[in-house]
Amino acid sequence: MKIKKAVIPAAGLGTRVLPATKAMPKEMLPIVDKPAIQYIVEEAVKSGIEDIIIIISRGKNVVEDHFDRSPELEKRLLLSGKHDVHDKLINISQMANIVFVRQQEQKGLGHAILHAKSFVGNEPFAVLYGDDVIIGDDPACGQLCRAYEEYGLSTVGIKEVSEEAISKYSTLELSLIKENIYSVTDMIEKPSKDKILSLYSILGRCVLTPDIFNILENTPAGAGNEIQLTDAMKVMANTKGMTGVDFTGTRYDMGNKLGILQATVEVALKHPEVADGFRAYLKEIAKTL
Ligand code: UTP
Repeated sequence: MKIKKAVIPAAGLGTRVLPATKAMPKEMLPIVDKPAIQYIVEEAVKSGIEDIIIIISRGKNVVEDHFDRSPELEKRLLLSGKHDVHDKLINISQMANIVFVRQQEQKGLGHAILHAKSFVGNEPFAVLYGDDVIIGDDPACGQLCRAYEEYGLSTVGIKEVSEEAISKYSTLELSLIKENIYSVTDMIEKPSKDKILSLYSILGRCVLTPDIFNILENTPAGAGNEIQLTDAMKVMANTKGMTGVDFTGTRYDMGNKLGILQATVEVALKHPEVADGFRAYLKEIAKTL
């Protein structure tokens, strides 16, 4: 079955990027000239997704506005002959069917995903974390959708991380199936040093079967007193099995300051409008380091 629906959780408080995220959602922080969440929606669309639900929260209406039409602006752009920018703006509002729902209290990623239950219904769906931008020729979400189509199991996007970083993420028990595809049998969220199963962690993307909702409804608060998606996925991995895709593409964590800077520099170095000027500037700066 083809995956047609995606959930983008974007309701978190973004405390690691304060004060920038006091009034501006971290998902709206720009990477050169597009907000992070637009890269994510574009990845979903390139992966064959048609319907998207974005989970937002109080103060994040600007995300809705970004994917809406903007008639005054569009008119002004046409009048001043800026047809290319005009077309780009129209395209943002027409990329996919996008709906929004509010998570009233920030009780964790698992709790946020539960808000998509009636939208998703009884089909498998993709989850793209709203602060994880992944850039690559083959969209990461699409790589996971293909693995779902092949194995029929919930699928997580995985990458090896450093020993220092793993305690901030999750750790996976896995075995290789073929190439970059693994069988995932267990996982622990934010493991202490003695609980590390491997240095593979779930990063930013997954495809889930709808039975995850039932599991989530019975998942108590875990690490950080939040309802953790990883805790529900653990039940799924233990009982039904799961696959993991070591996806290609570079992931930028827009939830931390260094990640935002890395994304800006690397995207700018490839951006048709600013790449040359930015490269020359960086070379000058690098001489002084
Ligand atoms: P994070 O744990 O990175 O987001 O969640 P956070 O809580 O905003 O981060 P900090 O620690 O305070 O800086 C990953 C994704 O899940 C969403 C976030 O918006 C982010 O895109 N999320 C998280 C929700 O939608 N609701 C929540 O309750 C928690």
